[in-house]
Amino acid sequence: MSDWTKTGWRSRPRVQMPDYTDAAALADVEAKLSKYPPLVFAGEARRLKSVLGQAAKGEAFLLQGGDCAESFDQFSADSIRDTFKVMLQMAMVLTFGAKVPVIKVGRMAGQFAKPRSAPTEVVDGVELPSYRGDIINDLAFTPEARIPDPARMLQAYTQSAATLNLIRAFSTGGYADVNEVHRWILGFTESEEAERFRDMANRITDTLDFIRAAGVSAERQHTLRQVDFYTSHEALLLEYEEALCRVDSTTGKWLAGSGHLLWIGDRTRQPDGAHVEFLQGVQNPIGLKCGPSLTSEDLKVLMAKLNPQNEPGRLTLIARFGAGKVADHLPRLIRTVEEEGANVLWVCDPMHGNTIKSATGYKTRPFDYVLREVQEFFAVHRNMGTIPGGVHFEMTGLDVTECTGGVQAVSDEDLHDRYHTACDPRLNASQSLELAFLVAEELTARRNDGDGRQVAVG
Ligand code: PEP
Ligand code: CO
Repeated sequence: MSDWTKTGWRSRPRVQMPDYTDAAALADVEAKLSKYPPLVFAGEARRLKSVLGQAAKGEAFLLQGGDCAESFDQFSADSIRDTFKVMLQMAMVLTFGAKVPVIKVGRMAGQFAKPRSAPTEVVDGVELPSYRGDIINDLAFTPEARIPDPARMLQAYTQSAATLNLIRAFSTGGYADVNEVHRWILGFTESEEAERFRDMANRITDTLDFIRAAGVSAERQHTLRQVDFYTSHEALLLEYEEALCRVDSTTGKWLAGSGHLLWIGDRTRQPDGAHVEFLQGVQNPIGLKCGPSLTSEDLKVLMAKLNPQNEPGRLTLIARFGAGKVADHLPRLIRTVEEEGANVLWVCDPMHGNTIKSATGYKTRPFDYVLREVQEFFAVHRNMGTIPGGVHFEMTGLDVTECTGGVQAVSDEDLHDRYHTACDPRLNASQSLELAFLVAEELTARRNDGDGRQVAVG
């Protein structure tokens, strides 16, 4: 797009963004951030785009997961390590089911800004502006804490840089080596899933022993020693995104330097709005949340704006309708995609349409609803002959009690015990792994369908 500028979004209607009161402080932060190094590089974003294009064809599968909202208070090396570890375990389980590479993308190192369903919240008769994520204001329920503070962008940048540094070390420094598969088993997952994973790990170790014994050279085994791990977040706070936008010297195109994949939320996807305007001009792979209110007409316009060249891997459509509603919405949107001949990757987010209030007053998500939405997503694709290309979870490696159900049978009464999320309820390590085994079963079926088709054609 030749006439696109990184500031063009400023003249478009914006929603879900803070009104900063101190313009000088904001300008100061923007000036600082625009001199900081980008967190990700164009070559990495292009590599991710290329593998997402493969996932759209069923030749890879996307696993995207992490916090609903990263938090300044809960930032620690251990929690990053544990989430990374569970994602490696899940990816291994999914690879077994899909028999294709699993693309690992964290909701990490930048997932700080939150859209909210209401601009204010009321507690015990006191009304205050809503919490909008640590990059904008503070969770504490006081008037001062809820004032948007631009200096928080600098802290978010620093935390993202430190997180990414650790992730890069884990990915390439030996930790993610498949030969270490037994080390990824978390101490506290003494569950049925941990046992199933241990069995799988034993089979992997046997296979590796076989490969070595058969004389496959150490050089050929190199790809098993490290992983590609990418970052993603909702590109909500456009002052921050603009300040980290850079021209890529290889191609001359703009890159959002804040993360590899950026997505547009279900509340900020207005075709003429600020968020769509900003994201259409950067070369990163882009996600678009698709909720029940997305019309086919809007989807058409959005696909044309966000992926005018119909580039494979550029656009990931993240379906989030809620259990029981997938069949009402996904088929019509799939038909729109087919009619337009658009290249997209379909991914299922079974979290955001399944949030309920528990009897004990906590925001939660029943594991059964989450699983049901995933199954409905796969079933619709199976019926329509299209490709279910990935999953998107809010999850953590920590042993929290935020979603109910799963084999640990977290109950409404248990939720208060370890409810730590700064925003939406996350699957804990055991629930995440359990879900991965169940998704792997769907993927095995996908593979068998594919084999069936090949046989029929041949
Ligand atoms: C999210 O992914 O955290 C989110 C707010 O999602 P959605 O825009 O789909 O509601
Ligand atoms: Co969320």
